[in-house]
Parts: sequence; structure tokens; C-alpha cells
Amino acid sequence: MKREVLAEEYLDQEQTIIAEIGALAQQYDDIINLSLGDPDYPTNSQVTEAAFQDAQEGYTRYTAAVGDPELRREIIKYNQKEFGYEVDLSQVMVTVGACHGMFLALESILDEGDEVIVPAPYFTPYLEQIRLAGGKPVILETTEDEGFQINAESLQALVTDKTKAVIINTPNNPTGVCFSEEVLTDLEEVVIEEDLIIFADEVYGALSFKHDFVPLATRDRLQDRTITVASFSKDYAMTGWRVGYVIAPDFVIDSMQRVNEGICYAAPSISQRAALHALRLHKEIQPLMVDEYKKRVNYAYQRIKTISNMSVLPPEATFYLFVNIKDTGLSSAEVSKKMLEEARVLAIPGTAFGECGEGYIRIACTVDKDKLKSAFDRLAEMKIFNQ
Ligand SMILES: Cc1ncc(COP(=O)(O)O)c(C=O)c1O
Repeated sequence: MKREVLAEEYLDQEQTIIAEIGALAQQYDDIINLSLGDPDYPTNSQVTEAAFQDAQEGYTRYTAAVGDPELRREIIKYNQKEFGYEVDLSQVMVTVGACHGMFLALESILDEGDEVIVPAPYFTPYLEQIRLAGGKPVILETTEDEGFQINAESLQALVTDKTKAVIINTPNNPTGVCFSEEVLTDLEEVVIEEDLIIFADEVYGALSFKHDFVPLATRDRLQDRTITVASFSKDYAMTGWRVGYVIAPDFVIDSMQRVNEGICYAAPSISQRAALHALRLHKEIQPLMVDEYKKRVNYAYQRIKTISNMSVLPPEATFYLFVNIKDTGLSSAEVSKKMLEEARVLAIPGTAFGECGEGYIRIACTVDKDKLKSAFDRLAEMKIFNQ
């Protein structure tokens, strides 16, 4: 088969920055990998064992397209108990992780040419997901000077008669920041005034160390205009199980279900059982895991403070640090490359998360403190971090 069989759209695709760095990384065997958001922390063994047991008992067939009813009921119970958020069964759909949930929701909402405002730096796949759904991403840059918070006035300035929605990701990847109460209240005003929908990406909800996490949809005026995307990947250390869920008005869920009939019909049944057990055990599972991530990011933060030409905001949430490397005088890509070649430490250039990520690298604390120590010991030896 000739390469030309590829659709024009995919024929001349440039390699992504992440793929480029990944390819470079293959050349070394002594790397400390702080790149992808996939921590070494294992899924709790009780969850794995209970899911295994369920598989042996016959949970090996398609579930309902919207998900295992037992899991959906548990999701409702969890949201009610934790946040006082009352959701009906018809408003919950289990998905193959948050990525799949976000795409189904975008595809259900967007008409050709509809604009979606995306605060930057952003989770890289959003742009392609919006485009695949026929929409147009419109970037709203945030700055370190403003603590990477959303500026509501700047948001409003981007609204046109084509704007349909805004994606709000808090706690945030890649910055590790939580949007403040004031910022969210200002955002709420704009969203209502401009009649927008919110795609609330809350996949790091349990990993908020500084403030108690509160889902955006619990705000009275936002409930009816928010589509919440959640996941078991990060909050339960279950990235490979590929399971998440969406909470949205029932007609959105109905549409998502229809779209998904042409994609994968339902999320994997065994992963859904694992998610059910994880939810039931969340009080046992999460505190230890969250504490571990908190220790890691705090350790990394302390080390960064002692290294020349690196600085970072104090950690608030997630396991990411968005590190300012502007004083090296080099670009993000150059710094990442040097870190890999000279220190065998793999981190992602900030530009992978949008143009305003130039001058930053994202460090994901996906390894334990001993390995983080080795990583920072190596970085501290580099010339660019010693001038
Ligand atoms: C902000 C954000 N949203 C969504 C996802 C995707 O999560 P999932 O593994 O559930 O597809 C990630 C994964 O890194 C993420 O960082």
C-alpha cells in the first residue's frame, strides 16, 4: 500500500513535540522519565483483585452503552455524598477515560465552525478533539504573573457569535494550579451573560492539596450549562484501565450514547467493575496516594528553588510542576533536549501545551522521591542551571 492512501488531512502531519522527545528518549537506557502524566503508583490491589473476581464471575460481556448500572449508581452516590451534588441516573455515562468522554461530548454539542475557548496552557489533545468534532479552538492565554488563572475580561473579549463553549480544567494540567473561587465566580458571570456551555475537565479533582475541590456543576447557575468530564485514571491511579465518566443533561448523554455506537459502544466491562470497587474504597485508597504525590511535588518544588535559572509557583494540586526556565536564555525545546542529553532527565517542553508555554518545561512527579532526588541531582550539575 502506498502512503498516499492516507487521507490528505493526515498525509503531511508534523511530528508532535511529545513524539519527538519520546523518539529521542528511546536512544538512552538510563533515563528518569518525568514526561507523561502516568505515575508509577499502582492501582490499589483490592481494586485489582475485586475486578479479577468479577471477571471470573462473568462480568466479561458488553455492558449497557451508558455503562454498568451499578457503577453509575455508585457515581451518583459519590457525588451526592462528597459534594452534595444531586445527579439523576439519566445524566451519567461511563466512558473509555476522560479523553473519550470529552470527545463524545464535544461531538454531541458542536456544529461545524462553532468556537470553543480553551485556556492555555492546555491539555494537548483538546485542540484536535475540538477540530475532529467540527469546531474551532480559540486560545485564551494565561500568564504566570496572574498565577495562570483565567482572566474573565480576556475571556469575554474572545466571545463571538460563534462561541458555544469554554473548557475549564481545574485542577490544571500542565500548570498544577486550581482556579480560585473569585476567578470561577467571574467566569460564571461571563458564561451566563454570553450563554456559554462549560466543559469542566475535573480529572484531577482528588489531587487538590491546598483547597477543597468543588465541582463546577455544583454552582446553582452552572449546573444546567456544565458538562463534567471525570476519570479514574489519575484520582485512583488507574490510567491503563481506561475508564471515566461524564455528567451532563440527559439529552446530551443520549446523544453521546448514539455517537459512541459508531465508536466503541461501551467502556470495557472489567474496567467498569474496577472503577466501581475504587469508588467504594476511595476513602481508603486516596489519602495515601494524594499524600505521596503531595510529598513528591513539594520535594521537587524545594529542589527547584535551589537551582539557578529555574523557578516555579508553589504547588497546589496534581503531580505537575510548570517550571519557568526563561533565565537559561534557551527555548523550552532546547532545554528539554539538553536535559535529556546531558542529565538523562525527560520532561516535556511547555510549548507542547500551547505557544504561551514557551519558556517553561513540565515536570511530572511520576517517580518516587529517591528517583526525583537523582533527577534533581543530575539537573543541578548542568551548566545551564549553574550560571
Ligand atoms: C487535563 C486532562 N484531561 C483528561 C485527561 C485524560 O484522562 P483519561 O486517561 O481519563 O483519558 C488527562 C490525562 O492526562 C488530563 O491531564
